[in-house]
Amino acid sequence: MNFAPAGFPAVRLRRLRQSAPLRRLVAETRLSVEQLVLPLFVRPGRKVRRPVGAMPGVCQLSPDELVTEARRAFEAGVPAVLLFGIPDHKDARASGAYARRGIVQQAVRLLKRELPDLLVITDVCLCEYMSHGHCGVVRADRHGARILNDPTLELLARTAVSHAEAGADLVAPSDMMDGRVAAIRAALDRAGFTETPIMAYAAKFASAFYGPFREAAESAPRFGDRRSYQMAPSNAAEALREVALDLAEGADIVMVKPALAYLDILYRVKTQFGYPTAAYAVSGEYAMIKAAAANGWLDERSVTLESLLALRRAGADILITYAAVDVARWLGEETGGRLSSARS
Ligand code: PBG
Repeated sequence: MNFAPAGFPAVRLRRLRQSAPLRRLVAETRLSVEQLVLPLFVRPGRKVRRPVGAMPGVCQLSPDELVTEARRAFEAGVPAVLLFGIPDHKDARASGAYARRGIVQQAVRLLKRELPDLLVITDVCLCEYMSHGHCGVVRADRHGARILNDPTLELLARTAVSHAEAGADLVAPSDMMDGRVAAIRAALDRAGFTETPIMAYAAKFASAFYGPFREAAESAPRFGDRRSYQMAPSNAAEALREVALDLAEGADIVMVKPALAYLDILYRVKTQFGYPTAAYAVSGEYAMIKAAAANGWLDERSVTLESLLALRRAGADILITYAAVDVARWLGEETGGRLSSARS
């Protein structure tokens, strides 16, 4: 077949597909270990590794085990971790979120001491620390319960500052209150942390794909749902407004979450704003691949790499994935395998 105009030579797109080195040479998008972020869950105790049911390979870890896991990631080439805390005690003010000796604050100090070159990002949210499991301060009234916006900002700002004081390299607010980025930026600056970047969960959707995470972080809301603060999956233009606002308020990196079902959002965020953009392949995305792979229905490695490559193609610079360590290993094997077969 020749689709070329008369008189022109045949167009043959398959010319560039004939060998692996040629295909690699013309690849438009690449995955690199430098882009990976591994989420980790820390809880009080010693020698604790509590597996998370729907996330095979993921555990809640005590600080000592957290260091072991973080070291494994760092040595595999993963440059950053994203920390979530599960406190001993929850209350209606989320006091564990901003306690000087809170679980995340302790973990950050320890990680920065043991692995100073590992980037430590902290998730800034209140849901894990609230007795009711919501991301903000709750007030009960005759219409039921409301999640209050502005009183929440103050607690989020305190939380972010306490993370920076412990040594966090970046803070990542995931609560979806209005104005949180501005509140956090102002508080960080006031406390002298003018150089601590904010990675904002800018377009975070109210998603059923977070199911397994809520078990992992013990943060399922006790009543209601998160739809009064997280975005409706139907809305793309609104996601762009969320991103624009977070950038105007001082976000340095913006995030789209979940990832694979929101590639259109990712693409638009990257094309429209051109800022460093992160995609969070969430717990449910991980669980789906793991479950299908365990049944022998999908090939875990190929599907994971293909999914992450799709996030890159859509515009993601930073890939947050529970599979980061495996991915780092697989990428290393690909390069290593090529070099050794070339030598032999
Ligand atoms: C906390 C938070 C959630 C996730 C990240 N930060 C859960 C939620 O909003 O309910 C989800 C991560 C995942 O599913 O992997 N607000």
